[in-house]
Amino acid sequence: MRRTVHLAAFAATAAAWGGEWNDKGGDDWEHYSAPPQQQQAPPPAAYWNYTSPSIPSSSSTSTSSQQYAWSSNVTQVTFKTTTRVVVTETVSPVGSESYSTSWAESSWAASPEVSSPPASAPEAPSTSTPPLTESGSPFPQESSPVAPEYTPSPVVTYIETSTEAVYVTVDKTVTACSPSGTDACPGPHPPGPPSGSWSPPGYGVPPSGPSSDCSLPTSPLTNEEQVGNSLWGTTCQPTFPKWLPDEHGRPYEQAPWGDRNPKNSDPTHDSDIPYSNVTRYYEFTVTRGSISADGVVRDVMLVNNQFPGPAIEANWGDMIEITVHNNISYPLEGTAIHWHGFLQRGSNWFDGVPSVSQCPIAPFHSYTYRIPAQLYGSTWYHAHYSAQYTAGVVGPIIVYGPTQQSYDIDIGPVMLSDWYHIPYFSIVSDAVGTDLSEIPPTSDSLLINGRGRFDCSKPSYGNDTEFLASHVNANLTWACTDGAELSKFKFQPGKTHRLRLMNIGADGIQKLTIDGHQMTVISYDYVPTTPHTVDFVTLGVGQRADVLVTANNYTTNMFWMRSSAPGGPSCGGSNMGEVMAAIYYEGADTTIEPTTLRGSNDTLCENAPLNTTQPEYSITPNPQDAYVFDITLSLVLNSTGNYEWRMNNQTFRANFNYPSLMLAAEGNTSFPYDPQWQVHNMGSNKSVVLNVTNLTPFAHPFHLHGHNFHVLNVGYNGSVWDGTAVNPSNPMRRDVQIIPMAGWAALSFESDNPGVWPFHCHVAWHLSGGLAMNLVTHADQIPSIPSGTKADTCADWDYYSNNNVVDQIDAGS
Ligand SMILES: *[C@@H]1O[C@H](CO)[C@@H](O)[C@H](O)[C@H]1NC(C)=O
Ligand SMILES: *[C@@H]1O[C@H](CO)[C@@H](O)[C@H](O)[C@H]1NC(C)=O
Ligand SMILES: *[C@@H]1O[C@H](CO)[C@@H](O)[C@H](O)[C@H]1NC(C)=O
Ligand SMILES: *[C@@H]1O[C@H](CO)[C@@H](O)[C@H](O)[C@H]1NC(C)=O
Ligand SMILES: *[C@@H]1O[C@H](CO)[C@@H](O)[C@H](O)[C@H]1NC(C)=O
Ligand SMILES: *[C@@H]1O[C@H](CO)[C@@H](O)[C@H](O)[C@H]1NC(C)=O
Ligand SMILES: *[C@@H]1O[C@H](CO)[C@@H](O)[C@H](O)[C@H]1NC(C)=O
Ligand SMILES: *[C@@H]1O[C@H](CO)[C@@H](O)[C@H](O)[C@H]1NC(C)=O
Ligand SMILES: *[C@@H]1O[C@H](CO)[C@@H](O)[C@H](O)[C@H]1NC(C)=O
Ligand SMILES: *[C@@H]1O[C@H](CO)[C@@H](O)[C@H](O)[C@H]1NC(C)=O
Ligand SMILES: *[C@@H]1O[C@H](CO)[C@@H](O)[C@H](O)[C@H]1NC(C)=O
Ligand SMILES: *[C@@H]1O[C@H](CO)[C@@H](O)[C@H](O)[C@H]1NC(C)=O
Repeated sequence: MRRTVHLAAFAATAAAWGGEWNDKGGDDWEHYSAPPQQQQAPPPAAYWNYTSPSIPSSSSTSTSSQQYAWSSNVTQVTFKTTTRVVVTETVSPVGSESYSTSWAESSWAASPEVSSPPASAPEAPSTSTPPLTESGSPFPQESSPVAPEYTPSPVVTYIETSTEAVYVTVDKTVTACSPSGTDACPGPHPPGPPSGSWSPPGYGVPPSGPSSDCSLPTSPLTNEEQVGNSLWGTTCQPTFPKWLPDEHGRPYEQAPWGDRNPKNSDPTHDSDIPYSNVTRYYEFTVTRGSISADGVVRDVMLVNNQFPGPAIEANWGDMIEITVHNNISYPLEGTAIHWHGFLQRGSNWFDGVPSVSQCPIAPFHSYTYRIPAQLYGSTWYHAHYSAQYTAGVVGPIIVYGPTQQSYDIDIGPVMLSDWYHIPYFSIVSDAVGTDLSEIPPTSDSLLINGRGRFDCSKPSYGNDTEFLASHVNANLTWACTDGAELSKFKFQPGKTHRLRLMNIGADGIQKLTIDGHQMTVISYDYVPTTPHTVDFVTLGVGQRADVLVTANNYTTNMFWMRSSAPGGPSCGGSNMGEVMAAIYYEGADTTIEPTTLRGSNDTLCENAPLNTTQPEYSITPNPQDAYVFDITLSLVLNSTGNYEWRMNNQTFRANFNYPSLMLAAEGNTSFPYDPQWQVHNMGSNKSVVLNVTNLTPFAHPFHLHGHNFHVLNVGYNGSVWDGTAVNPSNPMRRDVQIIPMAGWAALSFESDNPGVWPFHCHVAWHLSGGLAMNLVTHADQIPSIPSGTKADTCADWDYYSNNNVVDQIDAGS
C-alpha cells in the first residue's frame, strides 16, 4: 500500500507573532528564504521553488484554510526553533486499527498547541551552528553524533500568493505502515556500519554446524518457546574475550588501553580514556512476542526476538552505535532505550529517557544512538518507557577494560530478574492503583539469564482473568509447563572464571550465592573495587557486580548457583523462594542436575556494608563545599485514592512531548512548568550531596544517570544523616545504591557533566508510581543538541501523539 499523498500543512500566522520572528538567522535544518519585501507585488511563485520545481496537480486545492499563511509583509520565512510546521495525514492500513503516520517539524520553545502560535514572540535561536561537544571532547575528528540521514523533509512544491498572504502547500510521499501488510514503514535509514567494519556478532543466532558439546533445550519446551532466539544460559553460549579486535576484525596483540589500569586511571576524566576512534554497530528491533521463560506463557516485548536481548560489546574508549527500530504492534507503543551507567558526556541526548533526553521513538520509527564507552565493566540496557523493560526489553553490555586481578575465562553476563505472568501494562495498573497489597505487585518467579522454573501447582499473580483484563490484544490462554529448563554454565576445573552479575529485574533485591564456592568481587556497577571475598552478593535492581570464582571444589562436579529475593514486599520479595542455575565442571553430565545444598543464607535488604568495599581508584569528595539537597521519599494516597510515590512531596509524571533536556539546552532553564516534571536545578555547584531520607517502609535502589556517585553513608531505623561519611578519603562509588527502608543515604557527586540527569528509584513499579526527579546541572553549559537528534524523535512522536491516544497510566519514564 505504498502511495503518494498530498498533505495539508499549516504554520502559525505571522501576524500573531508580532512580525519579529522572521528576521533572524535560523537553524540549519529548515531554512526557506523569501524574496525581499514587495508588499504590493508578492514574489513570483517561482521564487519559492526552493526544492522542487514541480507542482503536483492535486496539491493546488489544499491551500484552503485558516492556518497556512504568512503575511505578505514577511520578507523571510525561516522554519526554525520558534516555528512549527506540521504535516498530517491519516492512513487506514490493512487490519482493524487505523494507524496515522506523520511528519512534523516542531520546536521545543513553541507552544504545545500545534495549531496556535505562542502569544508572544519567541526568542531567536542561536545563529551559529551549535557545538556538538565540549572542547576536549572525545570525538573531534569523527563525524558528529548526528542522527541518521533520514529526516522526513517536506518539499515545498507550490506557493500561492496574494496581497495578504503567502500560502504554502507541502507535498510529501508517505508510505502507509501496515502491520499485517508487506509495505515498509517510513523510518530512518540507519547509517549502518561502513563496509568492511567489524562488530561483535552478538548472541542469539545458534552456532552454525553441529557442535559436539552444545545443545539447545528441546523439552519440555523448545528453546524458542522458552526464550525466543536467546542462547543465554545454554551450553551454546560462548565465553567472552579479554578485548575485541579492531574495526577491521584484526586482533590487538596487546590491550588496546595500554598500561591504564584501575589504580592509575580514573575513567570519569576524559584525559584518562583511551579513545579509539572505533565504532561498534548494532541494530535492535523491538517487537511483541510470547515466551515461557519459567514455563508460563506470557506476552512480552523482545529485542531481536531474544530474552534477554543480545549483548552489546565494546572496548573501553570505543563508540557504540545502536539503531533501534520500534516495531511494537498491536497495540502500538512508544519506546526508548537507556544505556545504564554510561556517562554520556557530550551526548546527554542519547541517554534514552523519554520526556528528559528525547521523545519516545514513535511506532514504526527508528532512532540511532551513538554513545561513547567512557567507563568500562559490566552493565545493561533497558527500555525507559513506562515499565516496558519488565516485559523483556533488556540486555547486557560489556565494555572490556583493565582489571586489577587476573582471571582465565569470562563466563559473561549472569542476569538476575524477577518475573510476572501478565502483561506489564496490567501490572502497572496495579502498581499505581488503590490496593496497598499490590504496591508493589509481588513477582511470580525469578530467572537467571532468562530461565526459571515455575511450579504449575502454585497460584500465580494472574491467569486468564488478568489476561483478559489486560491491555494487550493477544489471544494467549493460560498455559503452564512444569520443569522448564534452567540456565547452565560450564567451569574449567582449576581455572578462575569471571561472572558479570547484574540485576535486570523489576523489583526484587537479589541475593546470589554459589554452593561450595566463594566469590571475589572486583567491581560494583562500573567502579572497580579492591578485591574482596564474599559468600553472597546483594544486588538491587540496576546494580552489577563482577566476581571471580575459582573452580577448585572437587567434592562433586556440579553445583547450584542460586538467586533469591527474600525480605517480602519491602524488598521486592518474590513468591518464588529462589531460582537455580547449574554449574558444570568440564566433563560433568549436563543432562542431570546438581544436588548441592545452599550455603549462605543472608536476607538483609541492603547493600554490603560500606566499610567492606572501596574503589580501586581513590577519590576524596569534599562534601563541606557541596550543595546539599535534602530529599524525602514518601508514599501517599492522592486525592483520587491512588497510591503515589513522591520525592519532596511531589510525584513525577513525564510529558513525552517536551523533553526537559531540549528545553534546558535551548536556554530555557527557569523551568516554570508543571511541577510534575520534577526538574530541579543544581546550579553551578561543583559538587552536590543528595541527602535522601526514606520515609517509606520499602527499600529503594536509587540510580543517578550520567555519574557515579560517592555513597558517603547510609542509615537505618528512622534516623537521619548526621553529616558523617564512611571511608571519607575514598568512599564507595557506584551508580545505584539501595536506600534502606525507613533509613537514608547520603550520595554525593561531582557536578562535572552539564545536562539533565534523572535520579530515580529503579524499582520499575515505584518509578511508575512517580519516584523520580530530574537534576539540571550547569544549565548554561549544556551543549546544544544536534538538530537532527531532536527532530528525529519529537517530530514523529508529536505527530503520532496528536493522532493517537497515548495511554499513559503511570509516570511514564
Ligand atoms: C525555480 O525553478 C526554475 C525551474 O527549475 C528555475 O529556473 C528557477 O531559477 C528556480 N527559482 C529559484 C528561485 O530557485
Ligand atoms: C503590513 O505592514 C503594514 C505596515 O507595517 C501594516 O499596516 C499591515 O497591517 C501589514 N499587513 C499585514 C497583513 O500584516
Ligand atoms: C519492522 O517493521 C518494518 C515495517 O513493517 C518491517 O519492514 C521490518 O521488517 C520489521 N522488522 C522486523 C525485525 O520485524
Ligand atoms: C583518533 O583519531 C584522531 C584524529 O584522526 C587521531 O589523532 C588519534 O590518534 C586517533 N586515535 C587512535 C587511537 O587511533
Ligand atoms: C486463576 O484464577 C481463578 C479465579 O480467580 C483462581 O481460582 C485460580 O486459582 C487461578 N489459577 C492460577 C493458576 O492462578
Ligand atoms: C484473536 O482472535 C480473534 C478471533 O479468533 C481474531 O479475530 C484476532 O485477530 C486475534 N487477535 C490477535 C492479536 O491475534
Ligand atoms: C565444596 O562443595 C561442597 C558441596 O557444596 C560443600 O559442602 C563444601 O563445603 C565445599 N568445600 C569448600 C572447601 O568450600
Ligand atoms: C536460613 O537461616 C534461617 C535462620 O538461621 C534458617 O531457619 C533457615 O532454615 C535457613 N535456610 C536455609 C535455606 O539454609
Ligand atoms: C564495619 O562497621 C561495623 C559497624 O558499623 C563493624 O561492626 C564492622 O566490624 C566493620 N567492618 C570492618 C571490616 O571494618
Ligand atoms: C492519583 O494517581 C493516579 C495514578 O497515578 C493518577 O491517575 C491520578 O491522576 C492522581 N490523581 C491526582 C489528583 O493527581
Ligand atoms: C504534601 O502535599 C499535599 C498536597 O498534595 C499537602 O496536603 C501536604 O501538606 C504536603 N505535605 C508536606 C509535608 O508538604
Ligand atoms: C538530611 O535530611 C534530613 C531530612 O530532611 C535532615 O533532618 C538532616 O538534618 C539532613 N542531614 C544533613 C547532614 O544535612
